[in-house]
Amino acid sequence: MNYDKNWAKVDAASIPDMKVPAPGPRSKDIHSRAEKYMKGYSSQVKLFPVAFESGHGVTLTDADGNKYIDFSSGIYVTNLGHCHPKVVEYLQKYTGQLMNCHDFSTEIKTLFLEKLASMTPGNLNGIQMYCAGCESVEAAMRAARAHTKKYEFFSFWGDFHGKTMSAVSVTQVADYTTGPRAVGMHLAPAAHCYRCAFDKKYPECKLFCVDALEKQIKMEGTGNVAAIIMEPIQGWNGSVVYPDDYLPAIRKLCDKLGILLIVDEVLTCCARTGKMWCVDLYGVVPDIMVFGKGLANGFPATAFAVKEEMTEVLEKISASTSYGGNPMAAAAGLASLEVIEEENIVEKSAKLGDFIMKKLIKMKGEHKIIGEVRGKGCLLGIELVKDLNTKEPFLEAGKRVYQIAFSKGLAWIPANHTLRMSPPLIMEEDVAAKALDIIDESITIAEKEFGYI
Ligand SMILES: Cc1ncc(COP(=O)(O)O)c(C=O)c1O
Repeated sequence: MNYDKNWAKVDAASIPDMKVPAPGPRSKDIHSRAEKYMKGYSSQVKLFPVAFESGHGVTLTDADGNKYIDFSSGIYVTNLGHCHPKVVEYLQKYTGQLMNCHDFSTEIKTLFLEKLASMTPGNLNGIQMYCAGCESVEAAMRAARAHTKKYEFFSFWGDFHGKTMSAVSVTQVADYTTGPRAVGMHLAPAAHCYRCAFDKKYPECKLFCVDALEKQIKMEGTGNVAAIIMEPIQGWNGSVVYPDDYLPAIRKLCDKLGILLIVDEVLTCCARTGKMWCVDLYGVVPDIMVFGKGLANGFPATAFAVKEEMTEVLEKISASTSYGGNPMAAAAGLASLEVIEEENIVEKSAKLGDFIMKKLIKMKGEHKIIGEVRGKGCLLGIELVKDLNTKEPFLEAGKRVYQIAFSKGLAWIPANHTLRMSPPLIMEEDVAAKALDIIDESITIAEKEFGYI
């Protein structure tokens, strides 16, 4: 397919373009009418209840005609920009041709599976397709149980794997609505070095947390541990990046204890971190891997893959899904994977991420409330603290900076006192620079409001 490779190019001087104070009157009307029926929005919406009307490339337009720079990609989803022409064309074709035929084979699904299998690390080529990230996480966990005939799982403090019952049991946010964690689900401290659970310093600690995890598995587990499930970079917890030797050490521990490693790449996948898969940053191949969000650039399509020698488990758990792998999902997925290759998106993500990170490091030196800036590729975060020494989380500033920047035309993602950035990977540097100027100004305004300057 031919399309203008500059389809998303935008004059940085022309954005953001805020025509009325946001959220404007149409946004307010649309959102308040929806809110009469639907409750339980994310903090992203609660803190800035704007209603969006369209998206093109790296910009979003709200119902009042305000144009924003997109520093969220939805929620790490539209990695290739909004309405990428190739994704749109593939989707349109199948929307008019065949929407659903349950799990019968279609040529487009076969092409998608062939493509994905050719790109996964190692021999992770036994695949099932689902619609939501949590569904693929659930299926991955069932596959681990089917393979090991064991039922316990370990995950990590701060992890997020979704809100269905098993996924939420290996997620930090489990609360009274989800009930106690399911039997056999354990959480352990991870290598969140800025806030080390053991008050140690990396690298002198020699990854003490991995030794502690081994002890916890032996003491707390009942000898029935099927797998460790983990995010390779924690998204919901505030873009928490682990030291380079952490994932390899976890892989080694799994091998030593004879348990499986499930890496949940729902958020980190598909070039987001400057590599096709986040595990590529660390040279680790898991036994099971979960994909989502950027996999089909906005169409609900997720998947999980097991290594070849485990493929019989796919038969055991069967793929129970009405929509998973439907022709539209497969088409959007295939188009997205092809674009990633054809447009060198992995390299673009790494380069843009480096550009942003350099600016963030400079910003950190200029503000009293930035505790840490971190990230890999275009998965980035700024952690705000009340005091650089005590590192007390600055929750109020997290909200204010998010709102101020949004009102100036930056669509992005809050996470308590950490601000998360996830620009489309096709963004030009001059546009990213404008977004970062908005963030810089917004932090300064918040510092003034809270009496820091
Ligand atoms: C790492 C990770 N796993 C799983 C999920 C769940 O995905 P979904 O919301 O599509 O169920 C998310 C969602 O943000 C996620 O970040």
